[in-house]
Amino acid sequence: MSGFDFDALPDRRASGCNKWNRYAADVLPMWVADMDFACPTPVLEAIQARVAHGVLGYGVNQAPLRAAIQAWCERLYGWRVEAEAILLLPGVVPGFNLAIRAACAPGAGVVVQTPVYPPMLKAPLNWDMRRLDAPLTPDATQDMDALRGALAEARGGAFLLCNPHNPTGRVFRREELAAIAEACLAAGVTIISDEIHCDLLFDGRRHIPVATLSPEVAARSITLMSAGKTFNIAGLNACWAIIPDAGLRARFQRAIASVADHANILGLVATEAALTHGEPWRLALLDYLQANRDLLLRRVAEDLPGVRLRAPEGTFLAWLDFRAKPAAADPAAWIEARARVGLNPGQDFGPPGAGHVRLNFGCPRATLSEGLDRLRRAFG
Ligand SMILES: Cc1ncc(COP(=O)(O)O)c(C=O)c1O
Repeated sequence: MSGFDFDALPDRRASGCNKWNRYAADVLPMWVADMDFACPTPVLEAIQARVAHGVLGYGVNQAPLRAAIQAWCERLYGWRVEAEAILLLPGVVPGFNLAIRAACAPGAGVVVQTPVYPPMLKAPLNWDMRRLDAPLTPDATQDMDALRGALAEARGGAFLLCNPHNPTGRVFRREELAAIAEACLAAGVTIISDEIHCDLLFDGRRHIPVATLSPEVAARSITLMSAGKTFNIAGLNACWAIIPDAGLRARFQRAIASVADHANILGLVATEAALTHGEPWRLALLDYLQANRDLLLRRVAEDLPGVRLRAPEGTFLAWLDFRAKPAAADPAAWIEARARVGLNPGQDFGPPGAGHVRLNFGCPRATLSEGLDRLRRAFG
């Protein structure tokens, strides 16, 4: 027993949340990437204390939060970050959109890994840049030939790295990251690294920020991190970018000015509390999520023959391949209609996502079991 109750299911439907209101009431929602857990008590207490103050104006430069981020990066990833390299902003999605604006020449190419988190597919087009797809292999490693081919077309552009990877849950190994980074540097392409899921790694893995590979990689990178997924505070709109190179940082600052240059004050308070006091909760959560992951693997193997699932190495997301099943044309629609479970359609994640679904196992075990029971009955 960890002393934390991840088995309790809060009633989220009346809380105005997206996850529990998208589908009909009898559909079990296991889609969008937030978890069905109350966030850690010290985080809630910090928010309550800040609200009790009564005045919610603009914040100052958040020195204690910057120090908490520095301590977190050093302790978890062995990464010594200069305080001035940290920029606070309202979200990772605005972060990678504005990073593209800062890093790319007009009309440049932006390389994305596919399948990938849908806002990453859209981001290049938001700025009239060319999107260049570099598909992953079926084992969710980076296809390096595809990457080099795409980078050759990117000319003054950027590579959007998603590590840990959404939707596959893959955690890229040091040598893979090194090969990816080397290819980007050789092509003169900036690495925009979305590492939002990096504090939820299983089986004792340790996260490697791509910027820690070498000073040259650091100088050509924008890393985006957040407490949003790890501590389930995604709705509070606060995250941070780490940009070691002063020139790139100045361009990013110009891109975010007047658009996204300050984060939500309660999000900043929550982030500081989470990084400072949330570690016991995070460690207990990891155990719980890993047991959910293992249950999912076992039940898919037993109950859903023909469905392929590569064990997620991090995140609370699983990428299920239904191409061998009758539901293959649009498994999410089929599953919603017949199993009454709401999953993300794989095709939203780019062309290789056809025939797949993404399932969110960041929920009480009873919810996960219920979802799996429904799938077994529908396919049985
Ligand atoms: C890879 C990835 N990046 C970014 C986000 C969202 O980040 P934010 O809410 O900070 O904009 C998500 C949420 O699902 C995600 O999976």
